[in-house]
Amino acid sequence: MTIGTLTKGTVVADDVSRHGMWSSRLLFVLAATGSAVGLGNIWKFPYITGENGGGAFVLVYLLCIAAIGIPVMMAEVMIGRAGRQSPINTLRTLVRDSNANRSWTIIGWMGVAAGFLILSYYAVIAGWAVSYTFRLGSGVFDGATGAHTSQIFDGFLGSPGSLLFWHTVFMAATIFIVARGVARGLEVAVRYLMPILLILLLGLVGYAAIYGDFARGFEFLFSFDFSKLSWGGTLTAMGHAFFTLSLGMGAIMAYGAYVPSKASISTTVFTIGALDTAVALAAGLAIFPIVFAVAGLEPGDGPGLMFVTLPIAFGNLPLGAALGCVFFLLVSFAAITSAISLTEPVLTYLVERYDAKRWIVAVVVGLFCWLLGIGTVLSFNEWSGATLFGLTFFEVVDYLSYKIMLPLGGLLIALFAGWVLAKRIVVEQLGFGEGTKWQLWNAAICVIAPAGILIVFAYSLYETFAS
Ligand code: PHE
Repeated sequence: MTIGTLTKGTVVADDVSRHGMWSSRLLFVLAATGSAVGLGNIWKFPYITGENGGGAFVLVYLLCIAAIGIPVMMAEVMIGRAGRQSPINTLRTLVRDSNANRSWTIIGWMGVAAGFLILSYYAVIAGWAVSYTFRLGSGVFDGATGAHTSQIFDGFLGSPGSLLFWHTVFMAATIFIVARGVARGLEVAVRYLMPILLILLLGLVGYAAIYGDFARGFEFLFSFDFSKLSWGGTLTAMGHAFFTLSLGMGAIMAYGAYVPSKASISTTVFTIGALDTAVALAAGLAIFPIVFAVAGLEPGDGPGLMFVTLPIAFGNLPLGAALGCVFFLLVSFAAITSAISLTEPVLTYLVERYDAKRWIVAVVVGLFCWLLGIGTVLSFNEWSGATLFGLTFFEVVDYLSYKIMLPLGGLLIALFAGWVLAKRIVVEQLGFGEGTKWQLWNAAICVIAPAGILIVFAYSLYETFAS
């Protein structure tokens, strides 16, 4: 037994994975949504939108989700299901079946590396959310103003000991769940807790609409002024489309390996993409109206944005302390269901490679990620002055993973699925026949996605070096 209510699969037959299978299509949608919806939606989307000027950035992000993210996600599920093993071994098998060059397995290896890098800092930020669960519960934010919440957040960031403590708590919880086999945990988290999170988020949008400057917040998110968006910002939007959908590093490929053969890939993928986008936009609509209504807060305030704005709402609402505590608890759960999926590609590979026990592999992987995460902890205090090309350790890890490795992984996945993978496998997996739907997907994966990714890469490189 490994993930969710995966039923144990002992033989590696064509239609069963040795790591288990999702018991239904719904379970796959829940697990993949659990992977997709996380800090990327609630923490990262608002702050990078703020840093990149708002509407135009949001528009490019939405375009990237629709034209690149959705087709690539279909490709990942398809590849995973066709191979039914860890991403690395799945690629090996498919390369053999399609008589292709073995170098394509690099997709799997790069994904493992990206997963490591992302999890190392993801656990640190998720630790902030866990700590805020307790802080809100304690009532320190009652009646809070912007100055008050900023001061508390800055004090927190300035203390490496506290950050390390919460980083450890989150990483330990993740590894514990991963090691035990997620059993029913993942299913409960996604089936019940995610809807509550969405309802609370909508409630916060309501608060922002009444007490915040909703008109300005809305306008910031949805009226586009392209003069505010650079090519670097476009690359951020594209990288974020991959990050938020958990694409480009094999997480969805690994989950795809457990999808029942009969489930429709396109319907499930559209559902996941729509839910993920809805959560991100709701988070934006909850946060920006508060930013514009409160003196001293700016949209471009950076990674702390969610932690300085939302406590103001909770501090001034009836029952706010309790609501805020529940909200940050749910954000922590959303983060854990994403963190679990970050470990799946490397975990399944090591289990296959060494025939190792899942829990031993989980502990070893967790320890390495935890160690790497200490660099991120220190980036906000002791090492804040130590920079490489002007970026702190956290910023370097973040940049490498989501602006370079995920889009590059996505590019290779698109090229592999579109140009290399035997057509019979593709047609059989997608189940579209060869009609209009297939042609649309084929155009997106063979041309639109690769061209889009290359253009954004090329122009942002040009911009960086020309300036
Ligand atoms: N999609 C997750 C989020 O938005 C992060 C993630 C990225 C998870 C890549 C898995 C793989 O928080």
